[in-house]
Amino acid sequence: MGDSRETHGLNAFVTGYPVKHSRSPLIHGHWLRTLDLAGSYRAVEVTPDAFPAFIAALKDRSSGYIGGNVTIPHKEIAFKLADRPDELSAELGASNTLWLEDGLLHATNTDGRGFTSNLDERHPGWDQTGQAVILGAGGASRAVIQAVRDRGVNEIHVVNRTIERARELSDRFGVHIHAHPMAALGEVMQGAGLFVNTTSLGMENEVAPTIDFSPLAENAVVTDIVYVPLKTPLLAQAKEQGFAIVDGLGMLLYQAVPGFEKWFGKRPVVDAALRALIIADMDKH
Ligand code: ATR
Repeated sequence: MGDSRETHGLNAFVTGYPVKHSRSPLIHGHWLRTLDLAGSYRAVEVTPDAFPAFIAALKDRSSGYIGGNVTIPHKEIAFKLADRPDELSAELGASNTLWLEDGLLHATNTDGRGFTSNLDERHPGWDQTGQAVILGAGGASRAVIQAVRDRGVNEIHVVNRTIERARELSDRFGVHIHAHPMAALGEVMQGAGLFVNTTSLGMENEVAPTIDFSPLAENAVVTDIVYVPLKTPLLAQAKEQGFAIVDGLGMLLYQAVPGFEKWFGKRPVVDAALRALIIADMDKH
């Protein structure tokens, strides 16, 4: 992608089904405005049946888009339909960011980078631990496992209510990933320096279990990829018990950075103004 992206009228999308809850238009709209770029970024609801045609129109350029984000339930099919998925998406089997380059549809998955950039900003040194505990084994857990592994944390314990799902992930992501049932949580937390919640436990309208974080290393950090509410019950408990915490909003903001840069040619920054904008929007709903 060359200088042409500096010109006016570049259009990007976020597509999902449903898509109206997506905060991506707010994030990218903020960056387009603050960087004074003329492009657009809009939410486009596409049903699963219509998704292949949507991608075909992207590829043949009749849609007018240069790329976009893909969210639930289209991440797996987006990966399959892309011409050039990168290694990160290939291992995950899912892509959330698409862009046209040299006439081909490229795809990556930026969730893991969003996760690590957020921790890098808010708790530098988080990766200087030999051991991490990741609660949950759903779609969101995969990108986190991959990212934590790729940063060199060499023992990762995946704890999940349904042990089979945790085992699938330990098989997929390598020998240093271990699967455990919920009952093993206390035991595998012993000495770990990073605890990540990737489950919906503690989201609004969900009951959160009580967790004793004391087996963690003294300087451990506890983070949640859920960001509604910003301070989830699990984070509140960890803080009360004296641990450092990092909320999940930054992951949402940072995962948007690589896509924006691909489509619009400028690297945007995640700053306090952007965070405040999204928090104000959360307060409205
Ligand atoms: P996502 O793509 O957002 O990760 P998901 O694939 O539905 O969503 O995964 C949700 C995760 O939260 C799973 O790890 C799920 O555990 P199961 O694999 O056993 O279903 C976990 N989860 C959701 N509700 C839970 C609950 N009440 N207790 C324990 N784990 C729960």
